[in-house]
Amino acid sequence: MELKRIVLGVTGGVAAYKAAELARLLVKDGIDVQVVMSAAARHFVGAATFQALTGHPVFSDLWDERVDNGMAHIDLTRGADAILVAPASADFLAKLVHGRADDLLSTLCLARDCPLLVAPAMNRQMWEAPANQRNVAQLTGDGVSVLGPDSGEQACGEVGFGRMLEPDDLLDALEARFQPKRFSGLKVVITAGPTFEAIDAVRGITNPSSGKMGYAVARAAIEAGAEVTLISGRTCLSPPREARFLPVVSAQDMLAAVESVVDGADIFISVAAVADYYVLNPSEQKIKKDAHILTLELAPNPDILAGISSREKPPFCVGFAAESENIEEYAELKRRRKHLPLIVANDVKEAVGSDEVRLILLDEAGRHVLEKADKQTQARLLVAHIAELYNTRYQ
Ligand code: C5P
Repeated sequence: MELKRIVLGVTGGVAAYKAAELARLLVKDGIDVQVVMSAAARHFVGAATFQALTGHPVFSDLWDERVDNGMAHIDLTRGADAILVAPASADFLAKLVHGRADDLLSTLCLARDCPLLVAPAMNRQMWEAPANQRNVAQLTGDGVSVLGPDSGEQACGEVGFGRMLEPDDLLDALEARFQPKRFSGLKVVITAGPTFEAIDAVRGITNPSSGKMGYAVARAAIEAGAEVTLISGRTCLSPPREARFLPVVSAQDMLAAVESVVDGADIFISVAAVADYYVLNPSEQKIKKDAHILTLELAPNPDILAGISSREKPPFCVGFAAESENIEEYAELKRRRKHLPLIVANDVKEAVGSDEVRLILLDEAGRHVLEKADKQTQARLLVAHIAELYNTRYQ
């Protein structure tokens, strides 16, 4: 389901000022935002701010005469795809747990027929209090999505869990929740990160790959409903909780991991920066430094992607090509050589380690440019493109 219209509930807390930024980001993303504030929220931020940002009058009162039929509690969520309460105070969470409906926002939450998401924001001790933890567990059990909270510095000067997620992160969580389920029922295997080929006990040959693009593709595939196996070389990133995660070190390890899971896979996306060579006879001990020239014997690594795509019944294979010159030409040559229906070309100078990237998708039909954007956005667009090609081929 696509997210087109949202009710943004704002309750009383210092983080209410961040809800204004969230409203701005939602509107910028093309989402129609109706703000409903609790009475306490109005002590922290003015309704005029939200009205100006969203272009809609703000409601707070169950008895608001601006709604002709006296049915504000129903009318305001009619046609809404979701209610997001951000910030959600401890008091408001408690109210939700008990199904209380003593103001407009709590009544809307009770009378809704769309998903409810809450972004808690409160003092560390309030967050940790057993009563609050019970409430959060109950809400989760009731199907409410609890986004955050984050840990960090709080308005009260304390440090700990209870900070509301930043508006950017909330927008991302919301978008993730509402991604169309384009990969529903599909098994997807993804490789990511660098491989590391040992020279000795401490040294090795590797590529400067952060893994950010591969992990973003894994998240996008999960959001699209796929069952994901993420096979990754060493990175500093945490794998998505919902993925089956197989950590590897060398290209040989990566090949073994891919072969152990790829049989039942529908789609194989090879984002990893696999080292082209490995060291023959690496030393088990650390090689002592001396003044002599050290010669390493290198042997070519297996091409994992080419091996999978040349199987008799391969999964739908997608490659990545990081190039430093003649980007499209070289990528297209790789696509043909490795028999891939799709390859994603990018510029190494811009892509490696960065958060934003421009991608060129090359397939049988030609080229499609994804102008520079953050890697998660690009991963979602890539998933949409793969789903289109996959469906044309198999349905
Ligand atoms: O390294 P190269 O530019 O050929 O990488 C193109 C694609 O092939 C990438 O998707 C990469 O993950 C994959 N590859 C592989 N095994 C290798 C080299 C590359 O799977 N040994």
